[in-house]
Amino acid sequence: MATSAAAIPEHVPADRVVDFDVFAPPGAEVDYFAAWDSLRGGPAVVWTTANGGHWIAADGATTRALWGDSERLSSEPLAVVPGLAEVMRFIPLQQDPPEHKPFRTAVMKGFANHHVAAMEPLVREVARELIAELKPAGSCEFMTRFAEVLPIHIFLTLIGVPTQDRPKLRPLGQQLTRPDGSMTVEQLRDAADEYLAPYVRERLADPGEDLFSRILAVPIEGRAWTMDEAMRMCRNLLFGGLDTVVSMFGQFALHLARHPEDQARLRAEPDLIPAATDELMRRYPMVSVTRGCTEDIAIDGVTMREGDLVYLNASMHNLDESCFERARQVDFDRKLPPIRHTTLGSGAHRCVGAGLARMEGIVFLEEWLAAIPTFRIAPGSRPRYRAGNVGALTELMLDWR
Ligand code: HEM
Repeated sequence: MATSAAAIPEHVPADRVVDFDVFAPPGAEVDYFAAWDSLRGGPAVVWTTANGGHWIAADGATTRALWGDSERLSSEPLAVVPGLAEVMRFIPLQQDPPEHKPFRTAVMKGFANHHVAAMEPLVREVARELIAELKPAGSCEFMTRFAEVLPIHIFLTLIGVPTQDRPKLRPLGQQLTRPDGSMTVEQLRDAADEYLAPYVRERLADPGEDLFSRILAVPIEGRAWTMDEAMRMCRNLLFGGLDTVVSMFGQFALHLARHPEDQARLRAEPDLIPAATDELMRRYPMVSVTRGCTEDIAIDGVTMREGDLVYLNASMHNLDESCFERARQVDFDRKLPPIRHTTLGSGAHRCVGAGLARMEGIVFLEEWLAAIPTFRIAPGSRPRYRAGNVGALTELMLDWR
């Protein structure tokens, strides 16, 4: 993402100005979290000149409070990149109350706990197959061989399409998780739409048992979904449910590769895995969101003006020592405080796929640790990160020889 330095608006005090490119924070390719840490310790909100100029919340309490404030902050902008919001038009992610509510309610029904529970055996089966394929080699590049593959299988199954479609969706998934510049955002959206449209049309006309059908069967204030709304929602699920889960698997694997003692503990005490999943999600959050001020907001001695963009990064909350004791430490026995972590967001837009994501995390840990002996980062290799709205590892060589 190119950085375009912008003129500093008059309402931004000089001592709040930084040059922080959220798509390429300093050193993020080797340590994403350390890069974000460079903003800590100063004011609670800063203004970056990068990417056209926008605010960034720079401490935990402010990040958390602004994330949940849909009264004064709109979700419509989607990102600090101009044009992206208009291209994607996600439902429900980019909607504000009150429009947001009926759409979100419909999507939530599709993700009800019993549906997620019903998916578990399949997630387990696919994870087992993939792991069985990888195991004999004694090493693998985890991101391309596992992390990027499993979520696509799961998504296809959720929406009830033949898994033979995998090869069609795989390149799209890769562009999403590892954009190589060969496709514009419009082309990516069009490719996703081209793939999804026939299924969406069919599900609207003749609903089945799959996720899209379940959601589209819920009326929106007494009327049916339009094709345009249905496409925007399905696009949201495709884009929201692949990249994020890929990123989560990468973080889990990297932590365990660096901490053989944690591998040993979870192998010895598999009942700890659900709690370990929550703690690993808290410790390694990689999602950021952009909001737009719908009114002037006085905060931390400055005024964010109506129309200004604010960037919120979940790690600024989860790794803030004043919000979580020993915030950097992974502690499987941690009792999460009543204010939970921000990995899955907070407030009106909190992740609707949270239950599914958690189940995928648990199944991954159970199956990987049961099948793969003690693993580590392959000697001579170095994990690489990509920053962005969903940060992710791009390279993680694991070795269990
Ligand atoms: C570890 C994996 C995941 C993470 C870290 C994650 C993170 C998030 C976050 C932070 C938000 C809030 C966005 C905001 O406040 O603007 C969100 C919303 C959302 N997520 Fe997830 N997500 C994950 C998995 C999934 C999955 C598997 C799906 C579906 C297949 C999904 C679908 C959505 C949707 C539709 C929304 C919008 C909800 C709304 O606007 O009301 N997510 N997610």
